[in-house]
Amino acid sequence: MAESLPDATAEFARAVGPEPDDVIREMDAQADTDGFPTVGPEVGGWLQMLARMVSARRVFEFGSGFGYSAYWFARALPEDGEIVLTEVDEDELDQAREYMARGGFDDLASYELGDAIETVDAYDGPFDAVLIDNEKHRYREAFEAVRPKIAEGGVVIADNAVTAGPIDFEALSALVRGEDPDEVNDHTAGVAEYLDRVGADPAFETALIPLGEGIAVSHRVD
Ligand SMILES: C[S@@+](CC[C@H](N)C(=O)[O-])C[C@H]1O[C@@H](n2cnc3c(N)ncnc32)[C@H](O)[C@@H]1O
Repeated sequence: MAESLPDATAEFARAVGPEPDDVIREMDAQADTDGFPTVGPEVGGWLQMLARMVSARRVFEFGSGFGYSAYWFARALPEDGEIVLTEVDEDELDQAREYMARGGFDDLASYELGDAIETVDAYDGPFDAVLIDNEKHRYREAFEAVRPKIAEGGVVIADNAVTAGPIDFEALSALVRGEDPDEVNDHTAGVAEYLDRVGADPAFETALIPLGEGIAVSHRVD
């Protein structure tokens, strides 16, 4: 089977940019050592770019880990911007706090321990950029919860739109093309269900960026 996301392309994308800073390099090293699945620098660069392209002021993340994706977003936010980090693991969230502070982003950030899908209910919109990176079988639920709070002109980015440890790319690809594969695990079905939901939503236009583990980018057009 052809590689779905070739390493050579990833390496090239990293060389093109945007450039990480020393804190990001340290986070990358930690992710390597711990085997932690951050979005990686190719997607991080796109998070920063997308936030800038929609002039984002407010960002919400479903699943922030130790703050890697949030840090890239924060680099594009204005001084009076806001980013909400959510995480079920207290230790990860504490590390996120430290990394964000080191980047000078602590004043922009709110740190919420617990289920992101419950947390989002406590926030008023609008959000200009949203990252969906929680449990794959709950992507659709995350989208439904945040959908009314997404600004017109805003953007929703779902990670793992192509791959992740448990995602079966052949089954995912078949589902997205309307076929009926024999065996589909919950993670794969969750991503396919999300892509189907957001893809059919007339208020959004969706396109795929095949970097990192693949991101589906959905732009709110009305
Ligand atoms: C794949 S990691 C990525 C984290 C981060 N976005 C990054 O790029 O480094 C996903 C994280 O989401 C957290 N998570 C999963 N389900 C969650 C939920 N329902 N609410 C909050 N955090 C969740 C996990 O504990 C994990 O740290």
